[in-house]
Amino acid sequence: MCGIVGYIGKKNCVPIIIEGLKRLEYRGYDSAGVGVIAGDDITVVKRKGKVTELQNAVTEQNVTGNVGIGHTRWATHGEPNEINAHPHYNQDRSLIVIHNGIIENYNSLKTGLKNIGYEFRSDTDTEVFAHLIDSFIRRGYDVSKSVRLALNEIDGTYGLAVMYAKEPDKIVVARQGSPLVMGIGDNENFIASDVSALIAYTKQIVYFEDGEIAEVYADHFVTKTIHDKEIEKIATEVNLTVDEIDKGGYDTFMMKEIMEQPDSCTNSMRGRLVFDEGTAKLGGLTDVVEKLLDCKRFLISACGTSWHAGLVGEYLFEHYLRIPTEVEYASEFRYRNPIIYPDDAVFFISQSGETADSLAALREAKRKGALCLGICNVVGSSIARESHAGVYTHAGPEIGVASTKAFTSQLIVLGLITLLLARRKSMSIAEGKEIVHAYQELPHKIAEILKLNKSIEEIAEQFKNANNFLYLGRGAHFPVALEGALKLKEISYIHAEGYPAAEMKHGPIALVDENMPVVFIAPKDSTYEKIVSNIEEIRARKGKVIAIATENDTEIDRLADHVIKIPNSARMTMPILTAIPLQLLAYHIAVKKGLNVDQPRNLAKSVTVE
Ligand code: G6P
Repeated sequence: MCGIVGYIGKKNCVPIIIEGLKRLEYRGYDSAGVGVIAGDDITVVKRKGKVTELQNAVTEQNVTGNVGIGHTRWATHGEPNEINAHPHYNQDRSLIVIHNGIIENYNSLKTGLKNIGYEFRSDTDTEVFAHLIDSFIRRGYDVSKSVRLALNEIDGTYGLAVMYAKEPDKIVVARQGSPLVMGIGDNENFIASDVSALIAYTKQIVYFEDGEIAEVYADHFVTKTIHDKEIEKIATEVNLTVDEIDKGGYDTFMMKEIMEQPDSCTNSMRGRLVFDEGTAKLGGLTDVVEKLLDCKRFLISACGTSWHAGLVGEYLFEHYLRIPTEVEYASEFRYRNPIIYPDDAVFFISQSGETADSLAALREAKRKGALCLGICNVVGSSIARESHAGVYTHAGPEIGVASTKAFTSQLIVLGLITLLLARRKSMSIAEGKEIVHAYQELPHKIAEILKLNKSIEEIAEQFKNANNFLYLGRGAHFPVALEGALKLKEISYIHAEGYPAAEMKHGPIALVDENMPVVFIAPKDSTYEKIVSNIEEIRARKGKVIAIATENDTEIDRLADHVIKIPNSARMTMPILTAIPLQLLAYHIAVKKGLNVDQPRNLAKSVTVE
């Protein structure tokens, strides 16, 4: 949530910051602002709306400078408008702050500051920072020390950047709970909340940790803890290219990411399948495999789409490993004093690796002594770094707010973990080889499904005006139904619910009439006959049935109003295939409604606040 970009060097920082903010717009897009050192002053320009509004304003006003910071906002405190947009300044406007996160004790700090004469202009928690830092500067401290002292009074989370006109040779940054990185250039340095804002300029990245504060100059930087202990940070090289974060000829990132799935899935499996032994090889788990095999229970914690992947994981782990598995929303897990036994392992699934609740859940599980494993997409992200071990999904950067390729890659990784452990337990080599074969065929089968794009678009045309949707599935396709419903909700704003197919009789069936489209995930598996009965029950109430079925199924043609036929695959890999038509269906409905699928209202890609 919220994007931060900063530059210090010899170039004009404004285009660099605007370009970076555009790359980060998926993190927040209700307002944006930039602050630039201009002589002895700071020029601040803010606009409600998208970064292009800000870009027009800075171009019109011809704002330039060599040191600056910018922000794109996802509102927490105070409505999205120009006043609440960042940067926020102190009383005499000599100091500005941009901030990602939430200051939990902002009310009491605000009261204290008001009592000593500070006037607040905005409704934000961030403005507290500006005045609080100012209150230390007034006591004679330099800006870095003032920021450090201010941070010691803050409860909450922040990725933060501060500029002070009287010390124009530096930007002060700090991190607690919200991601922050620095890019090292040649006599220039960059800061950002996300590497993708920087890779057009440098691949040398320093990742800040919680509790760290840094002075960033054009040619060097100094990092300390907020308790004033100096620490040395080393840059790592990221291997991400600008092409990977562009739209590549598609109208939207979401369509690009859906269409990329044959490749992203291939990348998730690359070098990990061992056909001769019918198993998987996962370097990130080498040191913990024996421990995992001894575990009596697995827990999975995540949010949003990643939580749905976790539910599929539960089916896989319990079916193939016979290890009891519990899946819990990270936001619940972290606050309910979870019971964790010494022989439990906890998996944290997160595309971004930065989701605040998932990260906090990980830290809580670590405190309780659990073996913690990360399944993350973003390399070097907080969850990846703080887990004891883990597996990257390697789906490549996902920019569209609604997760697509990251989800299918999460399912692949969960399957590969299952395969690796099952082969060490009771799975035969023959079964293992069959599964490896199924994985090898996946990219081709995904490509086949993507060819149905046009026919799914036609189905979307007929349902774009529906007010409600039901998604029903059984077994591991129940979480896929949840994910299908979530996709539709997120980008089309149509109310949609996912249910286990049989459970619909206990409530949702009351909603069914001729206006209710019901999407059934009905591959030919052991519960197929049961699903067919559920379809009949919907038809008897005049509901409109859209079925995702396997290609050789002819029975379904007479039952459903619309059938999307997909290739068959092994039990373990089938949910990866059934998820894809649901992504396309949601996509086309949203586009036909004229909506922005990449930046749906109120949502953000990376939820780094609670
Ligand atoms: C946000 C995104 C979702 C995502 C969820 C969890 O809500 O919009 O697409 O599934 O966060 O994110 P994570 O990065 O932890 O997978």
